[in-house]
Amino acid sequence: MGQLAVVLGEEPKREACAGDALIRFKGFGKSFGLGSGALVATRNIDLEVAAGEFVTIVGPSGCGKSTLLNAAAGIFPATAGEVVYRERPSRDTIAMSAI
Ligand SMILES: Nc1ncnc2c1ncn2[C@@H]1O[C@H](COP(=O)(O)OP(=O)(O)OP(=O)(O)O)[C@@H](O)[C@H]1O
Ligand SMILES: [Mg+2]
Repeated sequence: MGQLAVVLGEEPKREACAGDALIRFKGFGKSFGLGSGALVATRNIDLEVAAGEFVTIVGPSGCGKSTLLNAAAGIFPATAGEVVYRERPSRDTIAMSAI
């Protein structure tokens, strides 16, 4: 598992209140497979993205960038923590398609 970094762009233009995130990752982790053969795609991600905020996710191939986006889109569930989109579990709301 490589290092994943999140680069935050400019502040959103509108006034965002604390806790007013569009997407929120809380202790997010995702593994594929079970038991000793499980592959940890990413883990311990805490991130809040406000509406209109510009965020870039960078890191080497295989570090979990698409995994993060797929979880935001509700394509698969977290295996640790949670992903919330507009204050609802992202699995209830297909928000975007992963790149
Ligand atoms: N559906 C899946 N089943 C099993 N392993 C998966 C699955 N999707 C991703 N992985 C594994 O999870 C890890 C993270 O993959 P991911 O596609 O998120 O990386 P990435 O940072 O988007 O890479 P890239 O820059 O090549 O697109 C990799 O080891 C990958 O092989
Ligand atoms: Mg990818």
